[in-house]
Amino acid sequence: MASFTGDEVQTSIPQVDRLTYQSVDCRTAMNELVSLSLRDGIAVITISNPPVNALSPGVPEGIRSTVESAANDPAVSAIVVTGAGRTFIAGADIREFAKVVSGEKPRRSLLPLLLEIEDCPKPVVMAIHGTAFGGGLEVAMAGHYRVLAASAQVGQPEVKLGIIPGAAGTQRLPRLAGVAKAVEMCAFGDPIGAREAHALEIADAIIEGDLLTGAIAFAREVAAKPCPKTRERQKKLRDTDPSIFAKARQRAEKTRRGQTAPLAAIEAVEAATRLPFDAGCAHEAELFDRCLYSTQSKALIHAFFAERAVSRIPGVPQETPVYEIRRAAVIGAGTMGGGITMNYANASIPVIVKEAGQEALDRGMAVIRRNYASSVKKGKLAQAEMDHRLSLITPQLTYDGFEQADIIAEAVFEGMALKKQVFAEIDRIAKPGCILASNTSYLDIDEIASATRRPQLVVGHHYFSPANVMRLLEIVRGRDTDKEVLATSMALAKRMNKVGVLAGNARGFIGNRMLTPYLREAQFLVEEGASVEDVNGALYDFGIAMGPLAMSDLAGLDVGWRARREFRHLEKPGVRVPLVADQLCEQGRFGQKTGRGWSKYDENRQPSPDPETAALIEQTARKAGIERRSIGREEIVDRCVFALVNEGAHLLGEGIALRAADIDVVYLNGYGFPAWRGGPMFYADTVGLKTVLARIEEFRERHGGDLWLPAPLLRRLSESGSSFGEFDRQKQAAAGV
Ligand code: 3HC
Ligand code: NAI
Repeated sequence: MASFTGDEVQTSIPQVDRLTYQSVDCRTAMNELVSLSLRDGIAVITISNPPVNALSPGVPEGIRSTVESAANDPAVSAIVVTGAGRTFIAGADIREFAKVVSGEKPRRSLLPLLLEIEDCPKPVVMAIHGTAFGGGLEVAMAGHYRVLAASAQVGQPEVKLGIIPGAAGTQRLPRLAGVAKAVEMCAFGDPIGAREAHALEIADAIIEGDLLTGAIAFAREVAAKPCPKTRERQKKLRDTDPSIFAKARQRAEKTRRGQTAPLAAIEAVEAATRLPFDAGCAHEAELFDRCLYSTQSKALIHAFFAERAVSRIPGVPQETPVYEIRRAAVIGAGTMGGGITMNYANASIPVIVKEAGQEALDRGMAVIRRNYASSVKKGKLAQAEMDHRLSLITPQLTYDGFEQADIIAEAVFEGMALKKQVFAEIDRIAKPGCILASNTSYLDIDEIASATRRPQLVVGHHYFSPANVMRLLEIVRGRDTDKEVLATSMALAKRMNKVGVLAGNARGFIGNRMLTPYLREAQFLVEEGASVEDVNGALYDFGIAMGPLAMSDLAGLDVGWRARREFRHLEKPGVRVPLVADQLCEQGRFGQKTGRGWSKYDENRQPSPDPETAALIEQTARKAGIERRSIGREEIVDRCVFALVNEGAHLLGEGIALRAADIDVVYLNGYGFPAWRGGPMFYADTVGLKTVLARIEEFRERHGGDLWLPAPLLRRLSESGSSFGEFDRQKQAAAGV
């Protein structure tokens, strides 16, 4: 079929396969997505489907036809398959799976293609750099040999999308890597590096230097050797310890609470140990379909794309120039300032951290050292790397060196007067073009910017505690903030391995503004008769990492107490407010830090019910004439979660959040909302906006209009039978981003 006449040769058009593929023009596929060239008797098949060489329509067809061409060409003794650009194959095209949301059928299985590769009579060597993830690793395992660049990673991350490997990954991986490792990789989804892959016999060699040159040399060496088929390997399946599966299920129930895909992945790998290959694949396919059509998978795929869409901001095109950030300075080394300083050092940016007093500075630096040391102890960070990062941090009490900083991040106490004083000071010292960022939780960025002569360079960088751990960064746009500052902030978030979400300048921005009604309802519920444990338990069982009152105890009840005092003048007379939290604070019960709050905490910070708090709640409710009743879990969840949704819809309608999906990203990355529910707005879509609105109307009837005013956008979408997802799609199409 193929005739090689030069370096880049086009093969004749193969017939569309009888077994599998939908008809795709393979000539196009070969020209644009998969190409074939000959290097001294070795056929090189190159997949080129930027940005990550996903197995989009046309790619499998291209691989199949080029493998077939090379197999039939007498001039070819072995075949190398490689990826163009930054990676091998990052997996199946996830956009295909997303189609199930709109009722379309995704493309069919890759299985037959992989059998054809494995049955190729000439050795097929997979040359892997970047990532071989999901379907990419499945393609690689169908080859007879795998050679890896030293920096390559391999993995089966499908569970993170709520699915399982669907092209025999759960059947071939245990045959190569052993059952225990296959269970771990398929059920928990974390990738492994090249060295580990080599030790596990997933890789046959690590190539130092140019990968393709090394892979061709390797192919030449194995050209005359047999073609070992992964599916025929049995050795690592024999005598499997059955406790592997029980232990993995226990771990999944603990660390992947509420998720179905990890359990399905364990079941599929288990099938590999008791069924022949073909039957194992059939079982995998059944489980795969069940997962793919689940709400969990739709939610996780939504989360995947939502996280990648947040950086697209109308009016801030991708090519917007960004300021170079070479040096940074942070003001305040408290809870947040310390974590923010670490973020800069972790991104290899030298950073000065300034405090008001020596004691606070020493305390802050001690926490930073302790955090790094704990990562070293857990094996997550090399000692040399810790030393390097610490060497990038300069602790001091003065503004010396601030004039060289490209960005100054402020994290002093919350209070407008202090923030304005600090911004006026740094505006005088900072060089022209230096960005000034505030970590304020609630305050008006425009008022802070008014203390400077450069409001266009002032922005909110709102991190979440612990700032060195939590992935969310809210980027708050002031009235005058330049688009270059926003683009720089987004790029900086990525450099810090965080996800930046743009928020408008509303009190509490996106996350904290929504948190206010959520925490309000949690407190009302205990006043009305639910116990603290009922409220925490119902939301924990819903999937949220920590119940609302437990979260308040962790953050410190004094934080909200101070904020309420700052904003008391905004409370409307006659509108119900929570009554207990302030009384707890007046008694010095600030939550975990004082050992008492909504719950009691032992020296290991383990909670138990606090009868004194329960008595205080009851007494307060009685005094205020609040009727106490028994409250079911459904009401607890609906009141708290729909309070989030309604406030989110207000924010969307007001333009404070750009997209419903942005709100979801905030709640998934900053507040422990379960990813498998997709975020509060996606969850509302799955419930149906008509149902959500009806429930809100019910609460409004019972609890008063001021607190449960349905967001106009929610009403509009509900009445037109639409959804937040549809709202985003239309908005995005109109903005052309
Ligand atoms: N399908 C479709 N698009 C993909 C994709 C995939 N598998 N992987 C990445 N992309 C897209 C992203 O959406 C993004 O698009 P955008 O620029 O338009 O927003 C672009 O590629 C770049 O992605 P990232 O921004 O994530 O780039 P990074 O360099 O930070 O990360 C990566 C690269 C590590 C490959 C990361 O994208 C990733 O983890 N991708 C998902 C990998 C995965 O889950 N694979 C399994 C898929 S399911 C499967 O294979 C089923 C099989 O068993 C049958
Ligand atoms: P903190 O009280 O732990 O730390 C503030 C630090 O700023 C103190 O160490 C103080 O000595 C120092 N400081 C005060 N004035 C200073 C000055 N002029 N120069 C140098 N240092 C000065 O407070 P925390 O929690 O770190 O909060 C800081 C900011 O971050 C606040 O605006 C807060 O609202 C915000 N924030 C807090 C979060 C949290 O969970 N704690 C989460 C997100 C934002």
